[in-house]
Amino acid sequence: MLSSNISRILGANRTEFSVLGGNLLSAAKGSLPKTVLVASSRAGEGRTTTAVAVAHTLATESNARVLLVDADTEAPSLHTCFELQKEPGLSANLDGGAPDSIMKSGIERLDVLPAGDAPEQTARALSSGGIVELLRQWSEHYDHIILDSSPVLTTSVPTSLAPHVDGILLVAECQRTKWQVLETAQEKLLGVGGRVLGVILNKRRYYIPKFLYGSV
Ligand SMILES: Nc1ncnc2c1ncn2[C@@H]1O[C@H](COP(=O)(O)OP(=O)(O)OP(=O)(O)O)[C@@H](O)[C@H]1O
Ligand SMILES: [Mg+2]
Repeated sequence: MLSSNISRILGANRTEFSVLGGNLLSAAKGSLPKTVLVASSRAGEGRTTTAVAVAHTLATESNARVLLVDADTEAPSLHTCFELQKEPGLSANLDGGAPDSIMKSGIERLDVLPAGDAPEQTARALSSGGIVELLRQWSEHYDHIILDSSPVLTTSVPTSLAPHVDGILLVAECQRTKWQVLETAQEKLLGVGGRVLGVILNKRRYYIPKFLYGSV
């Protein structure tokens, strides 16, 4: 089940996340990418919130079967968002075991694979392409696989994953992240062969009531 904090954010931004789903479709020219990595340059910009929102929108509005994977080895949090156990999770899957570590989210068509408990081992396995076979297996059962990850500028996991996914969503915190920093993160992802579908400007601050922005 979704935690109350993330439910509140999803509810408050329902329209924006629904539009994001539509934009994703057009960025991919009609066919929604099967595997999507959610990345950001720094910590705390909203990767996890965005990953949950995209997965939730796809499962509830596009009728798609979605797997949400916690590949954040620095600050894993999908288990908290869905009030699940962190183990055995992705680290056990990469290890070749625990085929039943994928969990039900409590939302129809949306499953979650928490991070597990061996972050260094997970990061090593991801850097040697360990995700490729898992993505192939998951692709047989799910229409979309959304991967949460760690910051591009301070960890290696996103650049390890980037060449193996169909598209990347780059999250940036409005009025906080400098464009040079964002550009450096994007270059790192492009440099390893990643395909950046677009940048999501998160945590926009409204200086007049939010509903007036559409009418001025
Ligand atoms: N659109 C939003 N509106 C309100 N609060 C938000 C929004 N996006 C994120 N937050 C809040 O900002 C904080 C960081 O968000 P989140 O955990 O999604 O970021 P993150 O990039 O995954 O962080 P970390 O680097 O720690 O993994 C959380 O407290 C979250 O609830
Ligand atoms: Mg996070």
